[in-house]
Amino acid sequence: MEFENQTALVTGSTSGIGREVALLLAEKGAFVIVSGRNAAKSADTVSAIEAAGGKARFVAADLSDLDSVRNLTDEAGEVDVLVNNAGTYPFAPTLEQGLDTFETLIQTNVRGTYFLTQALVAKMAAKGSGSVVSVTTVAGLAGIAGTSVYGASKAAVDSFTRAWAVEFGSSGVRFNAVAPGHTKTDNVTDMIGEDDFEALGARVPLGRLGSAREIAEAVVFLASPRASYITGVTLAADGGFMALGIAAQ
Ligand SMILES: NC(=O)c1ccc[n+]([C@@H]2O[C@H](COP(=O)([O-])OP(=O)(O)OC[C@H]3O[C@@H](n4cnc5c(N)ncnc54)[C@H](OP(=O)(O)O)[C@@H]3O)[C@@H](O)[C@H]2O)c1
Repeated sequence: MEFENQTALVTGSTSGIGREVALLLAEKGAFVIVSGRNAAKSADTVSAIEAAGGKARFVAADLSDLDSVRNLTDEAGEVDVLVNNAGTYPFAPTLEQGLDTFETLIQTNVRGTYFLTQALVAKMAAKGSGSVVSVTTVAGLAGIAGTSVYGASKAAVDSFTRAWAVEFGSSGVRFNAVAPGHTKTDNVTDMIGEDDFEALGARVPLGRLGSAREIAEAVVFLASPRASYITGVTLAADGGFMALGIAAQ
């Protein structure tokens, strides 16, 4: 199996896209470290992996808290694959943007992702191999009203991805990102409203919302040896949203 004898840490794997990534990596042989804040939901992800014959354990972490990030890096130990999927997404029109959600977005999506990666990549580079895939967003690639801070927080991660690919290429560590388009997960559907979200999906070239599994397939491909000559890219998994551009909004 593709990830046999490998350990993969998937942040934000208590629900949605991260849960599907965790399930798929486990299906392909990885020992998966499931992480997030919600212990009950994480137990559900771990049980689903074990029921399918895979192996996993949970490490609780709040990425907005640097002590918690340090604890996660200590508990995780050496990992072969890191999937930076955890993210918060409080949208706001710029004139209504508050400082509290601005700081939460930056602390979680930017600072937490950065220092988690810094700690784990040091061990990958020392070993001479590893793969990091970060889940960003099309809102970091295109201008979408109401997502100025969220989009910027994920665009920062796209930028880290390119810089890290250059810094660590000679150490054998690859860095890529997947930028999902409109993807039907429970929390995002609740936030946008089912009808409004389906209507957004109907406007992209493929004419529908994406599924968490479809995003997970892109993440796992980039993490795998099948993508061994790919580093420093952000792959849009968006049903053609970026190809259509502004007309899709
Ligand atoms: N669905 C979409 O349309 C879409 C589109 C583009 C990009 N994305 C990105 O895809 C990723 C997954 O989103 P999703 O749709 O699957 O939503 P989701 O189900 O709400 O997943 C978010 C995950 O992040 C974790 N998380 C949130 N804040 C955290 C924190 N402070 N510390 C640690 N973990 C935290 C959550 O776990 P806990 O609650 O257990 O902490 C949860 O597992 C996010 O980064 C999101 O920005 C989603």
